[in-house]
Amino acid sequence: MKTLVTTAYRPTSSMLERAARVSEDLSLLQVPRNKRSIDRMHADEGADLLVCLKERLEFYPLGKKEPFFFHPNSAAFRTKRPLEQDPVIEVSRLAPGDSFLDCTLGLASDAIVASQRVGERGCVIGCESHPVLAYVVGQGLQAYNEMLHLEEAMRRIQVVTSDAVSFLETLESDSIDVIYMDPMFTEEITEASNFTPLRGPADHGQLTEQWVAEAKRVARKSIVLKAHFRSGDFERFGFVRRVRPNTKFHYGVISVRP
Ligand SMILES: C[S@@+](CC[C@H](N)C(=O)[O-])C[C@H]1O[C@@H](n2cnc3c(N)ncnc32)[C@H](O)[C@@H]1O
Repeated sequence: MKTLVTTAYRPTSSMLERAARVSEDLSLLQVPRNKRSIDRMHADEGADLLVCLKERLEFYPLGKKEPFFFHPNSAAFRTKRPLEQDPVIEVSRLAPGDSFLDCTLGLASDAIVASQRVGERGCVIGCESHPVLAYVVGQGLQAYNEMLHLEEAMRRIQVVTSDAVSFLETLESDSIDVIYMDPMFTEEITEASNFTPLRGPADHGQLTEQWVAEAKRVARKSIVLKAHFRSGDFERFGFVRRVRPNTKFHYGVISVRP
């Protein structure tokens, strides 16, 4: 789907400058807002819209009335609890100073929790195949300033716009401590979240033999999969499932090194 860059209803000069920068960064066409509503623009242009506001970027996939924008989401409350009890940290055995590759960055909530855990000696890379989503989240991670306790963790995350398998293929063997995968669920979970407007546009690709084989080559400590509790991918790809009673998703782990 084509994406066009525009501004708020009444653009300021700084919004126009920002829109020009974003359109250049993403090689996307910039179109004037001309006081049109989002619905009107969707009808006129037949494209997704990336709206540059003063404080943030908002992404309106075609036909959606609610925008997607960056927000730490579940990381906001998860990082207020003891980190070693967070399911991603516990299952992966991620430790301070480790490196963490999130193959499916999405909103970056899991990556922010991991980044808080690894601390200043660690490193976190987030890989996202949807270029506009990767850009909105990448900019948000660098600029978001409403949660002081997460700023250092957010700034540490390096965003890579790529398909996970292609990116893994560029990495050396045994070079990342923990590799994490959270592909889109094939069964819809009805709870609303900031991710809801992206359900359609996000990459719905599922785990493959090649993806797991590459992760095994690159991981030093563990590979973690998050999937719907009814997913057969845990068993299909050799992950040991950690059952979480009364939750709609489970985690599975392949321990590379004990
Ligand atoms: C369920 S969301 C991940 C949510 C994320 N764990 C979080 O904390 O916000 C899955 C994301 O991974 C992306 N994705 C799916 N398959 C991918 C792949 N093969 N390579 C890179 N990104 C992928 C989707 O576009 C989507 O944004």
